[in-house]
Amino acid sequence: MTSRYREVYRASLEDRDAFWLKAAEAIDWFEKPLKAFDPTLGAYGRWFPDGMTNACHNALDRHVEDGRGDQAALIYDSPVTGAKRTYSYAELLNEVSSFAAILQDFGVRKGDRVVIYMPMVPEALVGMFACARLGAIHSVVFGGFAANELAKRIDDARPKVILTASCGVEPSRKVAYKPLLDEAIRLSSHAPEAVILLQRPQLEAELVSGRDHDWATLREAARGRSAQCEPMRATDPLYILYTSGTTGAPKGVVRDLGGYMVALAWSMEAIYGVKRGETFFCASDIGWVVGHSYIVYAPLLAGCTTILYEGKPVGTPDAGALCRVASEYGAVALFTAPTAIRAVKKEDPQGEKLAGHDLSRMRALFLAGERADPATVDWAEKLLGVPVIDHCWQTETGWAIVANPLGLGLLPVKHGSPTVPMPGYDVTILDDAGHEVAPGTLGNIVIRLPLPPGCLPTLWNDEERFRSAYLTGFPGYYQTSDAGFIDEDGYVFFMARTDDIINVAGHRLSTGGMEEAIASHPDVAECAVVGVADTIKGQSPLGFVVLKAGVDRTPAEIEREIVTLVRERVGPVASFKQALTVPRLPKTRSGKILRGTIQKIADGEAWTMPATIEDPGALDDIGDALADRR
Ligand code: COA
Ligand code: AMP
Repeated sequence: MTSRYREVYRASLEDRDAFWLKAAEAIDWFEKPLKAFDPTLGAYGRWFPDGMTNACHNALDRHVEDGRGDQAALIYDSPVTGAKRTYSYAELLNEVSSFAAILQDFGVRKGDRVVIYMPMVPEALVGMFACARLGAIHSVVFGGFAANELAKRIDDARPKVILTASCGVEPSRKVAYKPLLDEAIRLSSHAPEAVILLQRPQLEAELVSGRDHDWATLREAARGRSAQCEPMRATDPLYILYTSGTTGAPKGVVRDLGGYMVALAWSMEAIYGVKRGETFFCASDIGWVVGHSYIVYAPLLAGCTTILYEGKPVGTPDAGALCRVASEYGAVALFTAPTAIRAVKKEDPQGEKLAGHDLSRMRALFLAGERADPATVDWAEKLLGVPVIDHCWQTETGWAIVANPLGLGLLPVKHGSPTVPMPGYDVTILDDAGHEVAPGTLGNIVIRLPLPPGCLPTLWNDEERFRSAYLTGFPGYYQTSDAGFIDEDGYVFFMARTDDIINVAGHRLSTGGMEEAIASHPDVAECAVVGVADTIKGQSPLGFVVLKAGVDRTPAEIEREIVTLVRERVGPVASFKQALTVPRLPKTRSGKILRGTIQKIADGEAWTMPATIEDPGALDDIGDALADRR
């Protein structure tokens, strides 16, 4: 089939408003938007400013009203606990509307924030949809973050209520969420009015009297009650999702609801090629943007069945786990991160664990979250016999910037490139002075404003940071902070971040945040964290520390304390496993630490002596520390 991509993409740029108003027809509006875009509102304009709708209505109520209440909406499959459960649309709606009534009892109203710190359990989705129903703004925090990171998010979002569970279940251990939450509330300057806790039999938690409430007891008491969908402006926030910035303070990405729903609904058919009634399996986590968009919202907006998988690609119980789930529920597409495929490939290079799993309904494997290395893509293509589609996006955009749209007809694949810009994304490469570069030339990947529907309009509580982080670097453009190039065929290649963000197992982390944690160690004078190549996780962090003069304990002892400190301050998700002591750090004459050169040395890549280096001997110290490590 010839791809309709070029014609569709051109239409989205030539008549932006007509394109997105047409796409908006896929959504149920209480008041239909007459205007697609108002350039006078917000930092760069707002989408569907006169539309009124509700995200929960679109994900649940409308399907039940249309007679599809018996269709499976959510399949929960949890190899770590042995649980499996299917919720029909009618059942899920029932759970959500009665939980929304419970939230109302706690005073939660339109515009209030609700932090959700929960593992991959159905109740987490119930909480998210209940917020959407009431017009409350949810902010889900990934379970692998430590109390300190959770505290930063509580401080910024100032939630009225926090939803949590007693524990998460990792293959190697149970993660007690409650002590982490208690500590986070102790550390933050804002106290929620209530905590609603789901007790899990694997590890129960103690409730704080007066503040904490048992989820199951509330649910039992609320049986038969329901709350109605609040009519919301399309420009109202649906959620805040915090992501790593260049400092330790996370950025609160705001997602407004109208444009997001329109973009997601469009993407389900055009990018993922999935139709109403089909099953979509996104093996991510609801704590990340991929989970928000393609576990929670998009599949249900499109009337599909979504799978909530509480397990890992390997070890729960083996490397065939993702295929087992895809086959058991007849998923037509699987979406995960390249790191998951690398982990499977390492455990099961011949794909023996695939045997016995019927994947005949699976039409494609989608990868995102980090660069998809050609060797991994190639391996998966051969093994699965379906297209392996790399696509690239950011927490900020909420959906793919660059992809190969299966639903419009695939373009020829070029390994190493997520293919071409999606509608509404006018992607260009600029040099550091802001000039467009020739095809094939490396530069800054930017998007000409406005961003399409679904992308962030601002940062929570910080319009100024929104402008300075994204809009002022290259006036008229959104700065992705990725470096890359566009080839003669218009294929975009993402090569590296231009800031201090690293990507560890598809998780976005700030080396600056880890450095802040290390610098708080009393024996550390200064430090640098770089992301070094990791065969499974893509990158992993490595710390270099200079100890204060006069410290008389052994470096090995302090290095161990630093590893513990990062785990406690940032969280296990950082996978910070090693710190190396050096006598000094390589710096420029103006005092800037040469992190890029350190990383190249650590990765054994070719590097050149920076002209501005103050003390070349410091680079030898890095080399010596690495040699001792090996
Ligand atoms: N709650 C609490 N802790 C968590 C957690 C959660 N939700 N998720 C991960 N962690 C912990 C893990 O237990 C581990 O702790 P440990 O140091 O005690 O072992 C640590 O955080 C690192 O976890 P992870 O990155 O998952 O590494 P892993 O070695 O356990 O597993 C992979 C490696 C590749 C299997 C795993 O990273 C993976 O499944 N990646 C897919 C990533 C993904 O879907 N990304 C979303 C973007 S699309
Ligand atoms: P996150 O906000 O966690 O989704 O991370 C976004 C960043 O991950 C992007 O800015 C890229 O650096 C990187 N990224 C995500 N998907 C891809 C991809 N398919 N190819 C290359 N880099 C990617």
